[in-house]
Amino acid sequence: MLTNLTAQPEDKILALMAQYRADPRDTKIDLGVGVYKNAEGLTPVMRSVKAAEQKLWEEQDSKSYVGLAGDPAFAAAMRGLIFGEGLAEDQVSAVATPGGTGAIRQGFELIKLAGTGATVWLSDPTWPNHPSILDHLDLPKATYRYFDAQSCSVDLPAMLEDLAKVKEGDVVLLHGCCHNPTGANLKPADFDVVIDALNAAGAIPFVDIAYQGFGDGLDADAAFTRAIAARCPQFLVAASCSKNFGIYRERTGVLFAVSDDESLRTVTQGNMAFLNRQNFSFPPDHGARLVTMILNDATMRADWEAELEDIRTGMLGLRMQLSDALRAETKSDRFSFVGDHRGMFSRLGIAPDAVATLRDDHGIYMVGDSRINIAGLNAQTVPVLAKAIAQVI
Ligand code: LMR
Repeated sequence: MLTNLTAQPEDKILALMAQYRADPRDTKIDLGVGVYKNAEGLTPVMRSVKAAEQKLWEEQDSKSYVGLAGDPAFAAAMRGLIFGEGLAEDQVSAVATPGGTGAIRQGFELIKLAGTGATVWLSDPTWPNHPSILDHLDLPKATYRYFDAQSCSVDLPAMLEDLAKVKEGDVVLLHGCCHNPTGANLKPADFDVVIDALNAAGAIPFVDIAYQGFGDGLDADAAFTRAIAARCPQFLVAASCSKNFGIYRERTGVLFAVSDDESLRTVTQGNMAFLNRQNFSFPPDHGARLVTMILNDATMRADWEAELEDIRTGMLGLRMQLSDALRAETKSDRFSFVGDHRGMFSRLGIAPDAVATLRDDHGIYMVGDSRINIAGLNAQTVPVLAKAIAQVI
């Protein structure tokens, strides 16, 4: 049997991680995979996570199974974090999943299980694992234009033009905030016009929110998702706790399926639990439990929010420094969009051969499409990157 297998295409982000690790240069700079790093280049365990882990160690008296959907208290806490007060419990079906990718996968599986033949529309570009999982599941996919390569900002007219081609019942995948890979986001003033287009088409929005708290703040980053919740009759949301709680390897995520028809809830919830059972049975609990404890405890939550805000403003500061340094080095405003982007990433819009030269000659690693992880920088490396970019473009 195994002799029948052929090599899979490599995941470009993970391959870059391996290439970076193998590079012996001590001046190398990792701007690849989307993992937060502090000024020392470390991805620390957040203080509130440590506190919750200690409390859990002291208090937890069983590691027995919880439930196929995970702990309802986790879903409730995440519902509050993402939707605020805006969503009644009886509208929402929810399952805990192994990370945000697990939530995306289970959402796509739910679309497949519903069997309507829906096409899933992805932004062009999007996180490469979105199309890859769709292909693996044999689900039809299409793209809508999103990014204007010239200005490195959202091309709203093109996006709306393409959303008008969406058929009734199709699913449109949207990044809730901090668009990956571009860093270019819809403005709050654009939310309603996009939602109008989705509703006019009869589309089902599927929001991927993996970076809440990394852009403009916890509430601002949830505003698009909340606007969808207020106006769309049916939608899905896949959320990740990897980045905003810094618990990457704990694999903590949640999938929500929401309908204004409460009678659909029991069967939807049952189908989502069924899919968990088929794919991995019970979802991981440790990270979800920490998140629940933090969100439900005023002291731990305040400390988490404060640390997350430090992380966010630190990345924003680096963004502004990079934008200024690029202006000075290139003597142009070509890269001023870096200051307008939000989240961990910016797509710089430089050519693949320049990306390769940065890697080979300067030891600067970014994804081939010129996506950089801002958190991979610090005050010392910002000028190094700006200088190198000015040299290669
Ligand atoms: C990224 O885009 O770098 C992250 O979401 C990590 C991953 O799994 O690709």
